[in-house]
Order: sequence, then structure tokens, then C-alpha cells
Amino acid sequence: MIKLTVVGLMGNMGKALIEETKKSEKFEIVNGIDKISGVRDEINVYDSFDKIEVKPDVVVDFSNPNSLDSIYDYCISGNIPAVICTTGFNEQQGARIKDLSKHIPVFKSANMSLGINILASLAKSAYKMTGDDFDIEILEKHHKYKIDAPSGTALLLADEINEASSGLFKYIYDRKSRRTARENNEIGITSIRAGNIVGEHEIIFGGENEVISISHSALSKSVFASGALKASEFIRNKPKGLYNMNDLLKEKLQF
Ligand SMILES: NC(=O)c1ccc[n+]([C@@H]2O[C@H](COP(=O)([O-])OP(=O)(O)OC[C@H]3O[C@@H](n4cnc5c(N)ncnc54)[C@H](O)[C@@H]3O)[C@@H](O)[C@H]2O)c1
Repeated sequence: MIKLTVVGLMGNMGKALIEETKKSEKFEIVNGIDKISGVRDEINVYDSFDKIEVKPDVVVDFSNPNSLDSIYDYCISGNIPAVICTTGFNEQQGARIKDLSKHIPVFKSANMSLGINILASLAKSAYKMTGDDFDIEILEKHHKYKIDAPSGTALLLADEINEASSGLFKYIYDRKSRRTARENNEIGITSIRAGNIVGEHEIIFGGENEVISISHSALSKSVFASGALKASEFIRNKPKGLYNMNDLLKEKLQF
């Protein structure tokens, strides 16, 4: 059994993780950490890592960037790997996660689904084939409760394309205030927040008289929960370092 502490257990992804864990013999959520302490599905949820009684094998974080400092301290002091799924970190927090990975194994992905990581790979290939001839725009749609925009996944997709271009692109989030024509080295990123949309991402390659569009829709939060469990198993016995879905897929699919 792989013992997990879930940060944000009282939230929506906490619920999805509890459901996903129940389907598997391999994992057990031994406790949770959340701003709201209590009991969820017979699992104790504490408002501080100091109160944890059962030491986990892996800490899984689906909460809020504000919880990073306490995760950092707890995982380093106990030498416990961390799977960071929270999104919306600022630059300084991003650097702190990199620093954390110098001490322990850290798995970080803004999107834990297999499909999005396949979409990222397809987007990279499409960019390599279309080059400067097509304009790239990313459209992301999420439920109305999501607090960060654009989504971490939209940035992940833009970063993958930008990496293939050796950093050619700048990201444009707002065209209203610009009042200039689009430049070639832009990736426009647009966010929609409505209802209970789980997560949709579309990458549009707009060319002269033709448009290519590739997209992914998450139909249930369970895809992210299942990915987080796979990531926990993957990093559990890895050496310290920063890992992501590409590393997991390479190991799993041997490509
Ligand atoms: N990587 C992925 O694949 C993926 C998928 C879905 C959601 N997410 C991200 O996971 C996070 C959580 O998503 P959600 O839909 O469950 O949100 P949610 O709002 O339903 O749940 C967040 C939980 O975190 C708790 N929380 C907030 N601040 C905290 C703090 N400082 N310390 C401890 N707990 C705290 C809240 O009380 C709440 O219970 C978001 O950042 C979201 O973007 C990532």
C-alpha cells in the first residue's frame, strides 16, 4: 500500500482522489491537510502538518499556492516525495518548487491527464510542421469556480510550443487594450469560465485560408485523480529531482 497525505482533501479534487483511491488496492489516503479541518470519508483532515500522526509515503497537493511553504518544510524534514498538482503559482513559488526538487523527488504537472500530455506532443509536432505560416491561439474553458486564469494547462501547452521554437513566442492574454494587429511571434491565450465545465483546451493554428484545430476535453475530474495516483507510484522511489508527465509516459510507454 502506498500511503498518501492529500493537501486540499476537503476540495473537489480531494473528493475525486478519495473515489479513485477506493477503486485501487495500491493506495491509501492516511490523512488530509486543508484550511478546513475535520473528517472526510472517515479520513482525518488537519489544518497543519504538525498534527499528522501517520507519516505518508507521498504528499499529493491539490489545494492552493498558499500551501506551498508548509509542504516544502514538511516534505524536506521527513524526506517525503511530493506530487504538486495545484496551479497558479507565481514565479517565486515556481522557483521554490525547483529548489524543493534539489532535496526530494517532486512531480509537478499542471495537468495530470494522459490526454493533455498527448495533445502537448501533437501541438509541438504541428508547430514544427507549420512554422511561421500559421498563427497560434489557445482557448481554454473551465468551471466558474476556478480562481486562476489562464489555466496552468494552457500555459503548459504554450510552453511546449515555445520550447520547440527555442523561445520565439510571447504570450498575449488581452487584446482589448492593445489595438494593434497581431504579430507572428504571439500565442494568444483566451480563458472562459462557465458552469461546471471540467476542462477544455483547444489549440488553433490559423493559416491563409485554412485552420487546423486540435483539442482535448476532460469529461470527469477522475482523470486528474487517476494521473496523480500514477505520479505518486512513479516518484515514490525515485532519486531527488523534478519530474513531470513526460517522464512518467517515457517510463511507462518506453519511448
Ligand atoms: N494538475 C491537475 O491536473 C489539476 C486538475 C484539477 C485541478 N487542479 C488544481 O488543483 C487545485 C485544487 O483544485 P480543486 O478543484 O480541488 O479546488 P477546490 O477549491 O475545490 O479545493 C481546494 C481545497 O484546498 C483547500 N485550501 C485552500 N488553501 C489552502 C491552504 N493554504 N492550505 C491547505 N488547504 C488549502 C481549500 O479549503 C479546498 O478544500 C487548483 O489549483 C486547481 O487548478 C490541478
